[in-house]
Amino acid sequence: MSLIVLASASAAETQALGTQLAAKLCPNDVLLLVGGLGAGKTQFAQGVAAGLGISEPVCSPTFNLLLSHDAKLADGTATRLYHFDLYRLDTAEQLDDIDYFALLEDGAISLVEWGDRFPEALPEDYLLIEVNVLGEARDPTYKARHCAPEPQSAAPPTRYCEPGLQSLTALTGAVSVNAAIPPDTTPSIAVLPDGLWSRELLVSAVGARSERLLADWQALQ
Ligand SMILES: Nc1ncnc2c1ncn2[C@@H]1O[C@H](COP(=O)(O)OP(=O)(O)OP(=O)(O)O)[C@@H](O)[C@H]1O
Ligand SMILES: [Mg+2]
Repeated sequence: MSLIVLASASAAETQALGTQLAAKLCPNDVLLLVGGLGAGKTQFAQGVAAGLGISEPVCSPTFNLLLSHDAKLADGTATRLYHFDLYRLDTAEQLDDIDYFALLEDGAISLVEWGDRFPEALPEDYLLIEVNVLGEARDPTYKARHCAPEPQSAAPPTRYCEPGLQSLTALTGAVSVNAAIPPDTTPSIAVLPDGLWSRELLVSAVGARSERLLADWQALQ
């Protein structure tokens, strides 16, 4: 499993990352967007939508649970974008009420805000995009942690962006909390602008098709 880290200095940059990914999407791809209220999930979704040729407004489907848009893949194939928001669901059983798992496999592109709401009911194959709100500047020691993991020591190293990594651990078991990224992960820094920036996107994949999608996206950086 690999983990890539993308930085964004503005809502427009987050949208641009979504548009960039959209060019690589195939039918049945599933994007789980996680991160707190106002983190930037919908901004990213808007970028994906633009990249899929959607011109109508795309907003958080918080009350609708699902909004569906006519869309077009990069090769011109007609498809649909299913934009879910699981925030208002109380139990995983309610996913059946909206036909969640069947819709994920009916040939559309699915984008799911609060996609980790039910960790016990995750899709089999998905790209996990975690949006973290950051302070004014990136910790200058980030490179040592992301690119050259230290062997685990008795005193755990201070983690940068620990909440995000904890949540990745909960979802995938792939990143240890309070430990360097394990040797079987291939972390890479894909975009590193200098100066101030406001969001970090941690992206990882579960399943063979999403691993390929992640590699395709990483190749564009
Ligand atoms: N780098 C950035 N990327 C994305 N959004 C940013 C960034 N910097 C500032 N913002 C602002 O943060 C807000 C993100 O709102 P957005 O609706 O995308 O959040 P959300 O994660 O979808 O929240 P919710 O869970 O409530 O649906 C917007 O007001 C946007 O302008
Ligand atoms: Mg939203």
